[in-house]
Amino acid sequence: MRTIRVKLGKRSYEARIGHDLLGQAGKWLRLIMPSGEKAALITNPDIDRLYGALLKQGLEKEGFRTATLLVPEGEEHKSLDTAAKLYAGLQAVHAERTTPILAMGGGVIGDLAGFVAATYMRGLPLALLPTTLLAQVDSSLGGKTAVDHGPVKNNIGVFHQPLLVIADTFTLRSLPQAEVSNGLAEVIKYGMIRDSAFFNMLEKNMQKIRAFEDPLLEEVVARSAAIKAGIVAKDERDTGLRNILNFGHTIGHAVEAASDFKIRHGQAVATGMVKASAIACRMGIFPRPRLLRLKNLLLEAGLPVTMPRVDMARVIAAMEHDKKVQNGKIRFILPRSIGKVFIADDVSFALAVEVMESSDD
Ligand SMILES: NC(=O)c1ccc[n+]([C@@H]2O[C@H](COP(=O)([O-])OP(=O)(O)OC[C@H]3O[C@@H](n4cnc5c(N)ncnc54)[C@H](O)[C@@H]3O)[C@@H](O)[C@H]2O)c1
Ligand SMILES: [Zn+2]
Repeated sequence: MRTIRVKLGKRSYEARIGHDLLGQAGKWLRLIMPSGEKAALITNPDIDRLYGALLKQGLEKEGFRTATLLVPEGEEHKSLDTAAKLYAGLQAVHAERTTPILAMGGGVIGDLAGFVAATYMRGLPLALLPTTLLAQVDSSLGGKTAVDHGPVKNNIGVFHQPLLVIADTFTLRSLPQAEVSNGLAEVIKYGMIRDSAFFNMLEKNMQKIRAFEDPLLEEVVARSAAIKAGIVAKDERDTGLRNILNFGHTIGHAVEAASDFKIRHGQAVATGMVKASAIACRMGIFPRPRLLRLKNLLLEAGLPVTMPRVDMARVIAAMEHDKKVQNGKIRFILPRSIGKVFIADDVSFALAVEVMESSDD
């Protein structure tokens, strides 16, 4: 097991990462909540069926009576309506200010349960038990909670740091490969933005990682989590450095939106990283052989490296709309080398469009 400390002053917490940890969650929760008797578990029926019993056994052993509140599977349930149902569920089980919320699932459950924990009775303690690769390396760290309202994602939310994160890498084995690839896009992003040695390690071991080989998988999750935690610790409220986590996301978000969210986040971000790097190549700041390494690694991870079939006019409109193109310039996170990116405020929007429309990176 690896322990990553997310250093945020009084709101600091630990992320425990490793194999077969879910059964021990009760023990760690007891350490930080010496006197609680109740806990509320928020999850979805599929994840509850797979891992609910294991988690609840450990909680009961430590004296936590656990009420389970189920949310149907799917991003469409990350909504204010579902949050309202969860508030009613918490009322029904007489949740108090000290009742911990346990969120077991992917980013959808984590964001939604985190939002409910942040707002019910002005804030309940939260423990995140991420069960997708994306949630283990990304959404469970950093304290962003949200629901979607109208056609926009994550537009209603609040920062609420958890007390504890337990990422059990064993749970990743039941994920479909497409979900593994989805998380690997963010993992590769961490190598690109911060850690060339990590990128090299991914190049050597991608097939073993996709086969869930331990302790390799634990190492990959832990190094990713440590990179995200390090960035969040320097910029908790996302006003500066945290921006570099958006490498690949400027185009990625626009592609997702233009596909009406049929293209998964990781796939869109993979294309976005290739295109951002291609822009940097055209500007003469990123050598082309490095772009080829990025593309090869993404392909090895089962991710796309070219623009998917989406309406380019919609992609461009989405970028103009929410990334605020000003005087023909747009902000991009661009690589200088593998392991090093910077925030470029004045990328020519015409160049970005040209690169997006080109099939020759
Ligand atoms: N808060 C943040 O900082 C942050 C960062 C990135 C993404 N997000 C959010 O995360 C969400 C996406 O998260 P996600 O990619 O984890 O998707 P998800 O939560 O929808 O999970 C993907 C699918 O995998 C299933 N699943 C989960 N764990 C499983 C397991 N162990 N075995 C089998 N199936 C399992 C889920 O039921 C779901 O069908 C989005 O809503 C996004 O906005 C938040
Ligand atoms: Zn992302």
